[in-house]
Amino acid sequence: MEVIIRPDADAVAATAMDFVGRLYARKADPVVGLATGKTPLKLYALMRASGLDFSRTRFFNLDELVGLGAADPKSFRRFLRDNLLDGLGAPDGNIRLLDGSLQDLEAEAEAYEAALKAAGGIDLQVLGLGRNGHIGFNEPGSSLGSRTRPKTLDRDTLADYGEGTPRFSITMGIGTILEARSLLMLATGEAKAEAVRRIAEGPLTSETPGSALQLHPRARLIVDEAAAARLARGDYWRWVWQNKWRVGQ
Ligand code: PGA
Repeated sequence: MEVIIRPDADAVAATAMDFVGRLYARKADPVVGLATGKTPLKLYALMRASGLDFSRTRFFNLDELVGLGAADPKSFRRFLRDNLLDGLGAPDGNIRLLDGSLQDLEAEAEAYEAALKAAGGIDLQVLGLGRNGHIGFNEPGSSLGSRTRPKTLDRDTLADYGEGTPRFSITMGIGTILEARSLLMLATGEAKAEAVRRIAEGPLTSETPGSALQLHPRARLIVDEAAAARLARGDYWRWVWQNKWRVGQ
């Protein structure tokens, strides 16, 4: 995993946008996986303002809460429409978001995996990081080989999401996420510092689902200084960033 430490959340978003721009420079019709949460909002604002042509992009998303209609203010579909997809110029037929309102979630999970396969897999998957180390709704203890499936939220996650949040979700599995050709995880703020340390420098373990990024050949973790505060090798990563030969990255 490559850890990129930037001064603040704006710089994290700008660096993430650079990687998105590089993807579009080499591929006009990429497959992009989206994350819901506060962290990627600045990146999504930059994508909207970028002037890039998203009309040939196929979009997927990581996860969704169970029992919510697409228009529900708490639904992740609504979040992604409001904060990124509406106005981006991607036709509806290119957008496949997990539907947690369906009765048969196992069938939805299977259909989703099939749609990912039919699209040729994800080129770039955006990821956030839970304070408990989760990715998507793969809570601690999730199999590192898990596939898209219904999943119960951890109590920590429910506390972070606030009153009235459904307890169940449907989420891409860790094994599914690892199949994306590149991963772009963003984490900002001191509340994420311990989770960042655990995924970057701790052991590979299902107790810290984000540590699965250690297995991926093209995983980038972009953090601000506050989220990097507990890294033992922060100086090394700052040094790498200052000296990196960036052409073709
Ligand atoms: P956040 O959520 O971006 O709102 O912090 C991240 C997550 O829980 O995966």
